[in-house]
Amino acid sequence: MRDIIDFSKVSKEEFNEIYNIAVDIMENKEKYQKACDGKVLASLFFEPSTRTNLSFTTAMYRLGGQVMGFSDSGSSSASKGESLKDTITVISKYADIIVMRNPQEGSALCATQYSEVPIINAGDGGHLHPTQTLTDLVTIKKYRGSLDNMTVGICGDLKYGRTVHSLIKSLAKYENIKFILVSPHELKLPEYIIDYMDSHNLNYEFETDLDNKINEFDILYMTRIQRERFDDIAQYERLKNVYILDEHKMSHAKENMLVLHPLPRVDEITDGVDLDPRAKYFEQAECGMYARMALILTLLENNKRKKPETISFANTDKKCINPKCITQTEKYLKPIFEDICGYCDKNLKK
Ligand code: NCD
Repeated sequence: MRDIIDFSKVSKEEFNEIYNIAVDIMENKEKYQKACDGKVLASLFFEPSTRTNLSFTTAMYRLGGQVMGFSDSGSSSASKGESLKDTITVISKYADIIVMRNPQEGSALCATQYSEVPIINAGDGGHLHPTQTLTDLVTIKKYRGSLDNMTVGICGDLKYGRTVHSLIKSLAKYENIKFILVSPHELKLPEYIIDYMDSHNLNYEFETDLDNKINEFDILYMTRIQRERFDDIAQYERLKNVYILDEHKMSHAKENMLVLHPLPRVDEITDGVDLDPRAKYFEQAECGMYARMALILTLLENNKRKKPETISFANTDKKCINPKCITQTEKYLKPIFEDICGYCDKNLKK
């Protein structure tokens, strides 16, 4: 792989290699202090982020590299109307590797087509968030030893939570995984992820009450209700406190269950839970920095020999109907679908 756009495309072997490097970095930090000497990472955040942005920046500094970029689209030429294609074409001549977060779905895949250097998708709208998934898998493997044979409860905003979509697609490769998907009806998983689970014969069930199944979980992945992605703010107000994990609920969970959360947390986990040894979300954030260091090293190395994935463009003038798809604004993009948009995964048959 040259780019990281969708973590489900990363094989188990590739993940294991990145994991081993991450663990080696955790244990031998000094060895890596100059590993990226002379390299520049461009950090392009068209949408706000604290953790992901800072963890990439810190990761590159800890490898001895330099970082340049912007942390909101107002300070980039996008605010002057520049296309993503032109921004990426130019920046890929300045930098050795690009990390990009952009609110439009499919924007990272678009960027790979115009970049001379690896692109890391740091979140494309509500679509995917592969480096959070890398972080999640590294954390589970570190604290549990294996990614097979587990019941994974995922709770909260399954509709807009891009970390959830990436996580489900990526865990699909592992053996004997059962998903219990806890959300109110309004925040159920998008159709394309349900289709993905069906086509990969995954074992899953839907649940609306967190108490009902908490005793079955090996992993509980809590998520924030994503206020910024609601069109109807009254609906957000109604749903925002629908799940709150507290010490009482934790008392019904398995003794070795792990609680993960991509952070930021709002009210969905009480502060009291932080003291429970099963709460691993802060360790998860730390693992994320080491995982990103390992990823940067791997992609810089791969870039010497790998090309971006070739995309087969469709011979059609059909347009994607998802208003958040990158093809809506970047008109030069050729469609890449038959029934599913190759950029944002929207199923165009439904
Ligand atoms: C997540 C994100 O940005 O999607 N956060 C993160 O990656 N640290 C989750 C969220 O914002 O709720």
